[in-house]
Amino acid sequence: MSCPVKYTDPQDGEVFDQESGMLYSEYLMLDKILKAQRMVSEEKNRPVHDEHLFIITHQAYELWFKQIIFELDSVRDLFSVMLEETQTLEILKRLNRIVLILKVLVDQVMILETMTPLDFMEFRGYLRPASGFQSLQFRLIENKLGVKQELRVKYNQRYTVVFGSDNEAMKLIENSEKEPSLCDIVEKWLEKTPGLESNGFDFWGKYQRAVEGLLNEQHTSALRETTTNRRNNSLSDWENQKKVYESIFNSKVHDALVSRGERRFSHKAFQGAIMVTLYRDEPRFSQPHQILTLLTDIDSLITKWRYNHVLMVQRMIGSFQLGTGGSSGYQYLRSTLSDRYKVFVDLFNLSTFLIPRSSIPPLTQDMKHHLCLNWNTQSHTNGETTTE
Ligand code: HEM
Repeated sequence: MSCPVKYTDPQDGEVFDQESGMLYSEYLMLDKILKAQRMVSEEKNRPVHDEHLFIITHQAYELWFKQIIFELDSVRDLFSVMLEETQTLEILKRLNRIVLILKVLVDQVMILETMTPLDFMEFRGYLRPASGFQSLQFRLIENKLGVKQELRVKYNQRYTVVFGSDNEAMKLIENSEKEPSLCDIVEKWLEKTPGLESNGFDFWGKYQRAVEGLLNEQHTSALRETTTNRRNNSLSDWENQKKVYESIFNSKVHDALVSRGERRFSHKAFQGAIMVTLYRDEPRFSQPHQILTLLTDIDSLITKWRYNHVLMVQRMIGSFQLGTGGSSGYQYLRSTLSDRYKVFVDLFNLSTFLIPRSSIPPLTQDMKHHLCLNWNTQSHTNGETTTE
């Protein structure tokens, strides 16, 4: 039988048994966490001071990864149920929390960079084959956000082999690949953007006509150029613009980009994202617009982390040494900086399709009224969008 812990109150010195409540270290299980730094260099009788920092840094990352997963799972649940104002606020709060944690993670790389490559070399050999490549939580974050297996670089497409003998890890990975990612859920949510109904406000039809008007103006002013050189340049700009817009107006071109991994959202969701962005000043679209901004921030910060990590790796082991996990090291990591790992790449590219405020199709009275109500309270009768 274990003896009850004695607790001395620092104010009055009173000593009492800690039978019912919990002490700080108990609650946080510090006995486990603070004893979890096993320095291999010490065990090999060649202690290297900086190995302690190396371990603590990785552990701190893994703890924050855990918190990110906790928030991500909850945000996906909140998105899946009906979006009411209070839920949108909660989503915003939690996404913002993920963004702030990621900022810390990006900056944290600097602390480990105080270790010199020479110090690292002294214990790196003991680590093999351990590597961040085997970080289960990092893969879960990628999958839960929506990094797609087929869009990973070739070497990374076989990332699950490292978990092969760990059934529990394999199960978690499989689930994270199968269940709807945050990207899938956001896509479904955007598809429901009020105002997209072709038999209602018909945003897409109106937007397309506005863009055609702008392109016609551009064409007319290109033809008015006084020198052949300038006219040709302006006409070629106009041709390029037309092609860029063709990629969103022609659903076949859009779908081809999706199948190549250059776009992620469905055509409808893409329209929703453009609509939310253009009408973000409308009260009803303000929070959705903030959500889109935070999702872009998340992608942007993960890319920044990848970049900082790659730079650190190059500094520590150079460009040509293999990683302890068996990859080509720096070269492999550099290839993960591509847009194929950006889940919300479409949100980054929205700015290509913004039009001047003066050309944004004005809202109808019905639509103005509609945007004062909840996202999911719309229904359609006889082609008219009404509210319940
Ligand atoms: C001296 C510091 C570090 C070095 C030299 C280093 C090196 C590497 C290398 C070479 C790889 C490629 C896989 C391999 O073949 O091993 C890798 C992957 C990875 N490392 Fe690090 N790493 C360092 C610090 C960290 C830290 C602090 C974290 C935080 C958790 C981390 C997380 C990861 C992750 C998640 C991957 C997989 C990335 C991907 O596949 O996209 N690494 N690391």
